[in-house]
Amino acid sequence: MLSKIHHIGVVVRDLEQAYGFWRDVLGLPVQVVKTVRDQDVTAALLKVGASEIELLQPLSDRSGIGKFLAKRGEGLHHLCFETDDVAAELAAAKAKGIRVIDDKPRLGLAGMICFLHPTATRGVLIEYAQPIEEHH
Ligand code: CO
Repeated sequence: MLSKIHHIGVVVRDLEQAYGFWRDVLGLPVQVVKTVRDQDVTAALLKVGASEIELLQPLSDRSGIGKFLAKRGEGLHHLCFETDDVAAELAAAKAKGIRVIDDKPRLGLAGMICFLHPTATRGVLIEYAQPIEEHH
């Protein structure tokens, strides 16, 4: 079951510059910063109540996030729903004919995650995440 918005993903050109708004103006604390090499991205999670803002800085223009930045510029990238069973959620979406990006859940910054394809979701890139304890 989807329980809440876990985080909202935002693509930024430069994390340090982005902190100038998200951390310093809005006052959201940076919880964790991690580089995910196979995605060529450095991500920072900033806490806002029970949810988070995930800032994504591409490390190259070849990565998915890098291509997004080159084409669309900085801004909203994806919406992540929290679930207690990401594999079941993904299987349910596939059973309903929803095109997916990840065929099975994989380890991401927010735990075990997967993405649904935006062509199947009325234009919004959607992530499912099942947090794992050692994530923070
Ligand atoms: Co995300």
